[in-house]
Amino acid sequence: MKIPKLQIGSITAKIPIVQGGMGVRVSLASLASAVANQGGIGTISSIGLGNIEGSAEVCERTSLEALVDEVRKARIMTDGHIAVNFMGVLTNVDNLIKATVAAGLTIIVFGAGLPTRLPALVPDPDVNLVPIISSARVAELILRTWDRRFERITDAMILEGPLAGGHLGFSPEQLEHPEDYSLEKLLPEVLETIKPYEDKYGRKIPIIVAGGIYTGKDIARMLSMGASGVQMGTRFVCTEECGVSQQFKQAYLDAKEEDIVIIKSPVGLPGRAINNQFLKDLEIKGKLKISCPYRCLTACKVETARYCIALALLKSYFGDVDHGLIFCGQNAYRVDKIVTVEELIQELLCELEEA
Ligand SMILES: Cc1cc2nc3c(=O)[nH]c(=O)nc-3n(C[C@H](O)[C@H](O)[C@H](O)COP(=O)(O)O)c2cc1C
Repeated sequence: MKIPKLQIGSITAKIPIVQGGMGVRVSLASLASAVANQGGIGTISSIGLGNIEGSAEVCERTSLEALVDEVRKARIMTDGHIAVNFMGVLTNVDNLIKATVAAGLTIIVFGAGLPTRLPALVPDPDVNLVPIISSARVAELILRTWDRRFERITDAMILEGPLAGGHLGFSPEQLEHPEDYSLEKLLPEVLETIKPYEDKYGRKIPIIVAGGIYTGKDIARMLSMGASGVQMGTRFVCTEECGVSQQFKQAYLDAKEEDIVIIKSPVGLPGRAINNQFLKDLEIKGKLKISCPYRCLTACKVETARYCIALALLKSYFGDVDHGLIFCGQNAYRVDKIVTVEELIQELLCELEEA
């Protein structure tokens, strides 16, 4: 199989692989630039970069400064393609997006919330707007709204299925039957839904699929079904360039299939994580004490939240995995070694060519 390029608006990535944004410092400049240097698209996550122990003002300011700093670092480390991932539930999402565009980046990925105002916030047509969706229904809703209100369509969409890591766009009931919402089922529905908009605007809306893509064979299968590319998260965590603690990576290497569980997150969505001491303690205690000077999430109700998700993810990032949350994809138990991004991408491309 000849390896197809991935075209998003005016951008052409040499290979159809996107490294997914991974919040609370999992995907920063080092990982994203390594992927971009291999010809893929690397994604910096804008989430959880601020100093959450400071006051609201300190956290807000440091999160902006840290994001701009990561963008600047990535720019020095690569001249490949870098995206930034945002969550709609962040209280300062508009400012983070504006700062990213001002810093010169041209791929904005938007998840955890409907991007109904995004084209108004980023009117520049050279900046590519890429919402994350989990169904044809949501694809249609976004396209219809943007067409009516802004006379534009999305430059690509990421279709994230139920096997992905982090927060998931499915209900806990749906997640009990992931086979009913497999990418193989969702992708044809999405391709059909976007067709009238592609015809109307005379251009393709590339669909990038995510969630459980593990081998080059998986990539080949998705491309043959009409996906323009794949987004992968879990496999990039156990790379040398990923900046999480050694303990975080070791938790992936040690995880067994039965250790990977669905949790309720204060964000208001289910999430997937490794069942560790933190989750076991939470089960017993029911609720941890939270002091929150900074309301980072519009959806988090501090009075009733069982724990502070930003703090829990930060703890794991720094290595205190027994007191922190470790997000992962359903396939994390398959990861058995730490490799470089170059080794991982070469392996995937070899498998893709063979397939
Ligand atoms: C540790 C971790 C953190 C993640 N954080 C985010 C996030 O903050 N925002 C987001 O849109 N997706 C997030 N994701 C999802 C990934 O970007 C990606 O779409 C997904 O993990 C793909 O599935 P895979 O892990 O099976 O490859 C996260 C995934 C992982 C593993």
